[in-house]
Amino acid sequence: MKFFIDTANLDQIREAQDLGVLDGVTTNPSLMAKEGITGRNNILKHYVDICNIVDGDVSAEVIATDFKEMVKEGEELAELHPQIVVKVPMIKEGVKAIKYFTDHGIRTNCTLVFSAGQALLAAKAGATYVSPFIGRLDDISTDGLELIADIRLIYDNYGFETQILAASVRHTMHVINCAKIGADVMTGPLSSIEGLLKHPLTDSGLKQFLEDYKKGN
Ligand code: E4P
Repeated sequence: MKFFIDTANLDQIREAQDLGVLDGVTTNPSLMAKEGITGRNNILKHYVDICNIVDGDVSAEVIATDFKEMVKEGEELAELHPQIVVKVPMIKEGVKAIKYFTDHGIRTNCTLVFSAGQALLAAKAGATYVSPFIGRLDDISTDGLELIADIRLIYDNYGFETQILAASVRHTMHVINCAKIGADVMTGPLSSIEGLLKHPLTDSGLKQFLEDYKKGN
């Protein structure tokens, strides 16, 4: 299972990278705005900065919503760095753009996916990744994990190679449940990764070991 961090914050990306378990980064326009990154040139530079910190794939989202502009923007993003994956929203023009990018060797992440049907279309268009937003489904009392399981079943039925990127992961249990279902990737905040570390018995056990060592040395 790949671990991506879902942020545009360079310090958090560095921290996750230093842990040695990071496989990539996802960003979106809201995450960019949160870090105060505005203006086309600054945004493009920020993507390159992120690529220079991590070894894996970095999703960069198109802003355009029509096919022609999406293609222009996506090609510009893809040229920035070999690690860039073009993030395209699940709309009609987006499906066409994903197919275009697939045919031209540009990797894609189909974003804002909330149903199995949308995930099926993304795979048919050849998306490298599909991003079902599980946290946002949970927010409206719909089981996000059930969607991951449905997509896993559909993709396995037909051998689709599109990787299931469980997005909008909010906490550690999301990560564990996605791993149980067989999501290929998860993207979440640094806390969802670091939360995996924690167990009170680890802390109390270590404390005891160190105390006992001190007694004899
Ligand atoms: C995915 O790529 C999105 O950036 C992200 O996971 C959305 O998460 P949110 O629902 O926490 O905003």
